[in-house]
Amino acid sequence: MTVTIRDYRPLDEASWLRCRVLSFLGSAYYDDVRAERPALAPGAIRLVATIPKPEGITTPGAEQVVGILDVEVWDDAGTRTATIDTIAVHPDHQRRGIADALLAQALVRADDARAVVMDAWTREDHAANAWYVRHGFRVTEEYLHVHPAYDETGGFTSPEPLSRPVTALCHARLDDEAEVRSRYARVHRCRRYHRDLHLPTWTADPDLARTYDAENAGRWDHDFYLDLARRLRAGRVTDLGCGTGVLAADLADAGHAVTGIDPAPAMLQIARTRPGGQRVRWLEGTAADLPDDDADLVVMEGHVAQYFLTDTQWAHTLGHIHRTLRPGGHVAFESRNPAARAWERWTREHTEDTYPHPDGGRFTSWSASVAVTAADHYGAIETHEGHVVLPDGTHRVHQETLRFRPLEVLQESLTAAGFTITAAWGDFAGSALTADSPEIILLARRA
Ligand SMILES: C[S@@+](CC[C@H](N)C(=O)[O-])C[C@H]1O[C@@H](n2cnc3c(N)ncnc32)[C@H](O)[C@@H]1O
Repeated sequence: MTVTIRDYRPLDEASWLRCRVLSFLGSAYYDDVRAERPALAPGAIRLVATIPKPEGITTPGAEQVVGILDVEVWDDAGTRTATIDTIAVHPDHQRRGIADALLAQALVRADDARAVVMDAWTREDHAANAWYVRHGFRVTEEYLHVHPAYDETGGFTSPEPLSRPVTALCHARLDDEAEVRSRYARVHRCRRYHRDLHLPTWTADPDLARTYDAENAGRWDHDFYLDLARRLRAGRVTDLGCGTGVLAADLADAGHAVTGIDPAPAMLQIARTRPGGQRVRWLEGTAADLPDDDADLVVMEGHVAQYFLTDTQWAHTLGHIHRTLRPGGHVAFESRNPAARAWERWTREHTEDTYPHPDGGRFTSWSASVAVTAADHYGAIETHEGHVVLPDGTHRVHQETLRFRPLEVLQESLTAAGFTITAAWGDFAGSALTADSPEIILLARRA
């Protein structure tokens, strides 16, 4: 059955309320019942997952709400924060990835809304806690929710003319848990889960930029793009996201007029000083900073295309590439095929290795995928931690988030930006692109 993720509409209210109450019934929030949809502040992200309305369901509209994600975007003492207000999946539709698909959309929307943190509060339900951890959230605060019942409210007073409370909800410190549990039957641990949406990446750290070339000494992708530039007889070539500049310098060495552009000063510093670097025009910036160059070819190597997480960022980037190219010029890039699920092999066990450090000694590094938010029609959003143990024993950890767009999404975005795909490959050996190829390598021509 196809599940659609879309914005909430007023007609959904009855179905939304049923989905929420049925989902919460099986959780530690079983008595948190709403009879009306709560109003959210302007700018909130209000998503629902719907299916065509099955026979016998009587709520209005042609669809049934089977998943809910409400996120408020607000200013938390200067930190733009996306707080999950409600997440719920109808009990008849759980364990089908609906919450993952909702989160994938919400992450993109939160990024568009310039949120730098996403957080959520939840109680001790195992499935909910495991879900947050799987999606890269970590616990930052914990306290107790205590529900004294009618026979436990001795000692509580109410203002006149009210009688003693029948029930109550109180907060208590985790330090007092043993005492509180000895006095009250219903005590929940309430946890705040927190995820940084914009941790500085490794490219901002000069020590980590220094390790990049040793870890990426393979030449298969460089040779592929060098050969492509030669076959296209591209006079002017731009390397967007050029990093430490190996490809840009090699392209210049092969006689092309090359511009290398990257937003990370630490990466460019290495690029500028590499042998042959003086033959390249280096620019600090993103596609928006590219001059109107009449370039023949723009390349994005090293999965740079996957750094553009939102559709807006990607569309802007393609728009600027279009602008910097001459009519008939080409863009070439690769993006990992989501169907090959590369992140499943991004574990310490599979990726740990030791390399010579450019300043002497050896360093060890590995990657570990910490969160994958998969949504088939849309493409997965994956976050991994990179670990580097430098020769002096310093252990650096950084985080990186990548978007894995399926071929159809790449095709649509290229067409929308005024490009026609002229060739596609499935790996750097030049194999034909198939459904499970590791890479989606595309060459597209500007109209
Ligand atoms: C994995 S490295 C690839 C570097 C180089 N192209 C290579 O193949 O070795 C990714 C590069 O993308 C750059 N990058 C990240 N965001 C970018 C953006 N918005 N525009 C252009 N480059 C970006 C990073 O600074 C980094 O140097």
